[in-house]
Amino acid sequence: MTKITGRIPQIDWSTGFERHWNGGNPAVTHVFNALSFLFPQGEKFFIDVAREVVRGITLDRNPELQQAVSGFVAQESIHGNQHNQYNAILEKQGFENVVHDLIDRLNALSHRYFSPLTNLAIVCGYEHYTAILGNFILSNPQILERAPADMALIWGWHSVEETEHKAVCFDLYQAAGGGWLRRVLVFILVTLDFIFLFARLYFSLLYRDHCLRPSRLPGTIGQSLKFFFGGSGVAWHLLWHGSRYLSPLFHPWNQDNRQRLQEWLAENQTRLREIA
Ligand SMILES: [Fe+2]
Ligand SMILES: [Fe+2]
Repeated sequence: MTKITGRIPQIDWSTGFERHWNGGNPAVTHVFNALSFLFPQGEKFFIDVAREVVRGITLDRNPELQQAVSGFVAQESIHGNQHNQYNAILEKQGFENVVHDLIDRLNALSHRYFSPLTNLAIVCGYEHYTAILGNFILSNPQILERAPADMALIWGWHSVEETEHKAVCFDLYQAAGGGWLRRVLVFILVTLDFIFLFARLYFSLLYRDHCLRPSRLPGTIGQSLKFFFGGSGVAWHLLWHGSRYLSPLFHPWNQDNRQRLQEWLAENQTRLREIA
């Protein structure tokens, strides 16, 4: 297991970013913006659950996993912090996180009614989606090639770290005694939850940006369909790699994409500050 390090991307958020920062394409820009709105509350939930599970089991014989969990917590808390700054700019542009209160309620219900192990299965499911989305971004650099350097940096950096820590919660779940059936049943719920929250946010961003007006609707549908269902569309990637999670033999590192991660880091290391 490689050491998991927290890094702060050197981004000046005070300068803001263009409304359609991703190459002037609103439908693709708002895919990223919707994900950004989801991250801070999701990542806080992941951290709280991982910490709760670690408190309940002894990892004395597994110092590597213990260290990996600390690295995971460090990375996710920096992600949340950076995306809060990103989201504050979206709010200044007139956008709103319309699922904010709903996510708060869902997280509270999960803590109240589900066991720590079931909540960790939720985290594992979401971490699988962030890992495969990260892999999609790293494998398809053309989707950010028309983005400003800082926006390409935050999405590349987040993708790299999601890849780097993709197995931490999965290994913790197994160390805590979690089994296949719970993992897979919860993954189905996570998938429905993710699709609903993402779609609700995505359409609200498009609506507020007037992209759903009759005059702009055909263009929006075209851009959106191409991104999701085109030749190398993200939907096919999510479907293919998402379904692998259902196998009893699944492990996040069955797909070894470390080289992609290292190549991105080698190119962008100078724009990241490692924390001790
Ligand atoms: Fe993250
Ligand atoms: Fe993560």
